[in-house]
Amino acid sequence: MNSDIIENYKNKKGVIFMETIPVFRPLITEDEILACKKVLDIGWLGMGKNVGAFEDDLRNFVRCHDRYVVVVSTGHAALHLGLLLAGVGPGDEVITPSFNNIADFQAILATGASIVFCDIDDKSLCVDLDKAESLINNKTKAMIVMDYDCILCDHDRINQLAQKYGIRIIHDAAHSFGSKYKGKMIGSFSDLCMFSFDPVKTITCIDGGALIVRSKKEVDLLHEMRLVGMGQPATVMYQNQRAWTYDVNHLGFRYHMANLHAAIGSSQLSKIQMISESRRKVCQIYNEQFTSISEIRTPLTDFRDITPFLYYIRVPENKRDALRKHMLEHGVDTGIHWQPGHWFTLFKDCKKGNLTVTDKVGKEILSLPLHSNMSDENIQQVVACVKSFRWRS
Ligand SMILES: Cc1ncc(COP(=O)(O)O)c(C=O)c1O
Repeated sequence: MNSDIIENYKNKKGVIFMETIPVFRPLITEDEILACKKVLDIGWLGMGKNVGAFEDDLRNFVRCHDRYVVVVSTGHAALHLGLLLAGVGPGDEVITPSFNNIADFQAILATGASIVFCDIDDKSLCVDLDKAESLINNKTKAMIVMDYDCILCDHDRINQLAQKYGIRIIHDAAHSFGSKYKGKMIGSFSDLCMFSFDPVKTITCIDGGALIVRSKKEVDLLHEMRLVGMGQPATVMYQNQRAWTYDVNHLGFRYHMANLHAAIGSSQLSKIQMISESRRKVCQIYNEQFTSISEIRTPLTDFRDITPFLYYIRVPENKRDALRKHMLEHGVDTGIHWQPGHWFTLFKDCKKGNLTVTDKVGKEILSLPLHSNMSDENIQQVVACVKSFRWRS
């Protein structure tokens, strides 16, 4: 590590005192604390005014005025409801990249449908659409496509496949919130699009999720399904009121978002430009700094139009553990996003195609710290740490 960095970590007695740089660090400021205080002072803690306001804020930000935004308790809830809206149920198959979040796999199982694991493309790390097409059959009801980190899927081709085979698309945009695809905001063009606002996401509600849908019919259904099936009009609830009599017509879950979480979300969203620019800058520095290390593969993008959620590198599989140990010893934590789905006990017998790329990437992938407003000192420490690893030994 650079000597000036070491100096920064010495306490008054000259003993090195080092806080590990975490992979994620949410940007929580006075704004969020004030927003929470306001909600707590009003005392309507459950679903209400702030939830409606957060949905409006998201709709304006995503520029999806021909669509509807419904916020829910988590990204997982959004995926589950999205699949149900798509009509997925027992006997159906849903294709998903195996290189995806567990929430996606569990959401498929929760509908009673079967998972079909597909491979990813070696360059984008998003679903391999040729391989996906070969897995489509008359049981295929839907496909989950996920923008992995800072590279977006080929959404035009996905749309063509959906039309050709009559399948629904659930676009998992948990990583691509705030990015643009061919000039269009992510969330503004997909069949069904979901976001996650969990504790480590680009913007957080502590926990939260959203679904963007195209019809009023879908919205009405979602409003009931997220509220254990209660036919409470959102227009009433968004005035911090509730109806005491209502009907129950649909299967439902306790998946709604509370005012406190929505208030944090709106506060975070008001800072999205700074969040986006600061994260992009870190990724650009990392990419530039690591090009000289031939053992590292960096994301193949210049990050233009991208709001990065995480930053990954690919390293030779026989070096990954040693690099992680080296980094931790020098005060830098690293992460693994992800272990592929078909490696887990619960999913090991699921139907799958050829997963050669996934198996390779699962052993090479490594996430480095990326924070909004990350300090120059932290960025330098991460870079120095990667560079000081004995790559050739
Ligand atoms: C790609 C992806 N999809 C879905 C989820 C699930 O979202 P949540 O944690 O809000 O349930 C995550 C969470 O990390 C994710 O990264």
